[in-house]
Amino acid sequence: MSIAHAPAHVPTPEELEAYKARLSAAVLREEAIPVQYTEDGKRVTWQDQGSQGEFLDSPWFETLYHGTRGPGKTDGLIMSFAMECEQGHGEAWRGIMFRQTYPQLADVEAKTQKWFRHIFPGRCKFNKSKMLWEWSTGEVLLLRHMMRPSDYLNYHGHEYPFIGWEELTNWANDECYKLMIACCRTSKMDVPRMIRATTNPYGVGHNWVKDRWQLYGKWWETRIILEPKNSQGLIERPRCAIHGHIDENKILLAADPHYKQTIVSSAANPAMAEAWLDGSWDIVAGGMFDDVWDARYNLVKKFDLPGWPKE
Ligand SMILES: Nc1ncnc2c1ncn2[C@@H]1O[C@H](COP(=O)(O)OP(=O)(O)OP(=O)(O)O)[C@@H](O)[C@H]1O
Ligand SMILES: [Mg+2]
Repeated sequence: MSIAHAPAHVPTPEELEAYKARLSAAVLREEAIPVQYTEDGKRVTWQDQGSQGEFLDSPWFETLYHGTRGPGKTDGLIMSFAMECEQGHGEAWRGIMFRQTYPQLADVEAKTQKWFRHIFPGRCKFNKSKMLWEWSTGEVLLLRHMMRPSDYLNYHGHEYPFIGWEELTNWANDECYKLMIACCRTSKMDVPRMIRATTNPYGVGHNWVKDRWQLYGKWWETRIILEPKNSQGLIERPRCAIHGHIDENKILLAADPHYKQTIVSSAANPAMAEAWLDGSWDIVAGGMFDDVWDARYNLVKKFDLPGWPKE
C-alpha cells in the first residue's frame, strides 16, 4: 500500500551546504551512546531521566516541554513519537516534526540517527530524499520545516496523530502552530493523538508561548490548563507545560561536569543566561532588540544638550 506524503522540500544548494555542515557537527556532538541499566539491572538503550518521564507520560493533548538548556527536551520529543512505534498502530502512527528552516532539521536528524539505529536495529530507515523515517511495521516520521503560515498549505487535509515542534519560541507568533492543530487526527481507534513541543524561554516567540501555557508566577511547576479558552471564549482541548532543568540530565553532566559554565559562556546577554540556566520566563524577551539590548552598554548617563537652556 502506498502512503501519501507531503511533497519533499527541494533544498537550494546553499541550504544543502548549510544542512551538511550542521549535520556533521551535530553527529559529532551526539556521537556517544551511553551504556545504561535499569534499576533491576537490565541493559537498555535509552531510559528517561527526571522530568522526561512526566513529559512522556503526559495524557494531555498539547504538551510543552520547556526549561533550561540540556535537560533532554529534544530527546524527550523524539521518544514521545518512538514510544508508540511497533505497538500495533502500523501506518496509522504518522508523525511530523517541525523546525523553521531546512538546515535546522539536521539537529533533529542527528538525534534520531543516534537513537533509532540502536533502538530499532534494521527495523527502520531514514529516507534522505524524502526526509522521513519509515518503520518496517508501517509507522512514519516526517522531518519538515515551516517558516510561514503559507507553508501550511503543503499539509492541509493531512492526518498526523503526532505533531512535534522543536524550539517553539523560534516562531514569532502562533499562526503556524495553530494551523496544524486540525491535522492532529486519525480515523483509527486507539491511536493516540498528541501535539508535543520543546523550547527554551527567550527568542522572538517568548511572549505568545508564555501566554498560551500561562507561564506566569511559578513557571517551574507543571501547568495543566484543562479548559483553555480561545479569543472568542470557546473551549479548546487541554494543554500542559512541563519544566526541565539541566541538573536532571545526570548522563550529560557526568560526561561534561562543566556544561553549566559552557552555557554561561555562550549566552549573549543576561536575559539569555537566565533563560538558559534557570529556564526563567520572567525575563524580557520577544522584542526586536532583545538580543542586542543590554543596559550596561545601551544606556547613557543624563547629560545637558549643548545650546539648550538648562532646567
Ligand atoms: N534519557 C537520556 N539518556 C541518554 N542521553 C540523554 C537522555 N536525555 C538526553 N540525553 C542526551 O543529553 C544531551 C542533551 O539532550 P537534549 O539535546 O535532548 O537536551 P535539550 O534540553 O533539548 O537541550 P537544548 O536546550 O540545548 O535544546 C544529548 O546528547 C542527549 O542525547
Ligand atoms: Mg533541544
